[in-house]
Amino acid sequence: MSMKLVEQARHVLRANDRGGYTIPTAGLYPFQWNWDASVCALGWMTFDEARAWLEIETLLSAMWTDRDYGGGSAGLVAHIAFHQDADTYFPGPSEWGTQELAIRTSSISQPPLHATMVRWMLDRARDAQAAGAAVRRIVPKLLAHHRWWYRTRDPQGTGLVRVLHPWETGMDNSPAWDAPLDRVPCTTRAYRRRDLDHVDASMRPPKSFYDRVVFLMDANRQAHFDPAQMIRLGRFQVNDIGVISILHRATRDLVTLCRLTGDEPSAREMEEQVRRTEAAVGALWSPRWKQFVSRDVLSGELLDQPTSAGLLSAYAGFEADIREAVMDSLDQAPYGIPSTRPCSGSYEAARYWRGPVWQHINLLVARGLQEQGHADLYERVRFNSERLFEGAGFHEYFHPETGSGLGGKDFSWTAAVYLHWIAAQAA
Ligand code: DGY
Repeated sequence: MSMKLVEQARHVLRANDRGGYTIPTAGLYPFQWNWDASVCALGWMTFDEARAWLEIETLLSAMWTDRDYGGGSAGLVAHIAFHQDADTYFPGPSEWGTQELAIRTSSISQPPLHATMVRWMLDRARDAQAAGAAVRRIVPKLLAHHRWWYRTRDPQGTGLVRVLHPWETGMDNSPAWDAPLDRVPCTTRAYRRRDLDHVDASMRPPKSFYDRVVFLMDANRQAHFDPAQMIRLGRFQVNDIGVISILHRATRDLVTLCRLTGDEPSAREMEEQVRRTEAAVGALWSPRWKQFVSRDVLSGELLDQPTSAGLLSAYAGFEADIREAVMDSLDQAPYGIPSTRPCSGSYEAARYWRGPVWQHINLLVARGLQEQGHADLYERVRFNSERLFEGAGFHEYFHPETGSGLGGKDFSWTAAVYLHWIAAQAA
């Protein structure tokens, strides 16, 4: 462990602290992001427990309620919470059509890591009283959020939720979304991207991607955020194995949290969702890649791409042997796990989710491998992550072949993963 790196990581979180929430990085992402917040909380937990709980509570304070937009979307935790104005990001607070909200947000969600991160935070809490009080406040909100996922994104109770926007997957420009995005029209309205003011275009999605995500954002506003309309009209509908795995794991952890807070009926309700997903997920297995993949709900086709989302199945707790797929990923990229395996025709080493390594994904995949007894693979992923932290610091993502840092600098969740990993090893 390097005390210098630990200090630097803490400094990244403190510098990105905007008072109760942590921005991912200055300029490029000046608001609170959903799955970033949960990972940041894990990092704060290693040196400021009160601040860690506050991160989660600030995010959940922006959850939609039954007073918002007819109540159909009550429980939506949006992918961005705009606690303050900033003009360095597109699409910012004025673009989503949510001005009526007490805290303006986007109109889509992101992978729901929260219940799992809360459980991990609880496991290492030194101030048990404060942790217990925070968990009692947080669990009812997490229940509302998980119910939102199952109610609005799986209305027929298939066991497999769908996402309605690539940003909802968190893995924005993954090659798995190329085919379903092809069907989405390009917007004809003018807009100005701000991401290219901060990061080189070679590391970001192209214009053809932005034209479509803007179309999808505008379509939600035109549907008045009514979940039934959004599903009826939605041009992008995907069973994302990343979101399905993260939600599944989080629901299992929420069952435990419900029991800790004495809410047995909710624990049973969530267990029923766990059973449904376990019975359904086999339909997403790819014999070609020996891992789970996503599926296009509108065409019924598997989106047969070897992405890191499919390696989250061990973390989810799905019974499937992904050893060969993980080894293949690691063998193909010296600094893996790559977000897309290099053998895929869609691999681009430096472009966001089409190749680069992301440290929070490494953490989740490694944890799943450890839990399924693959100690050797766990150690390989952890070792690769350590080399990246030591060699390139706290960038947003990393080049899987050279280990160089890519995207935004001084990135909060990368620093948070480092702090968590170091603390877990020391424990
Ligand atoms: C972006 O703007 O690139 C974000 O990933 C969307 O959440």
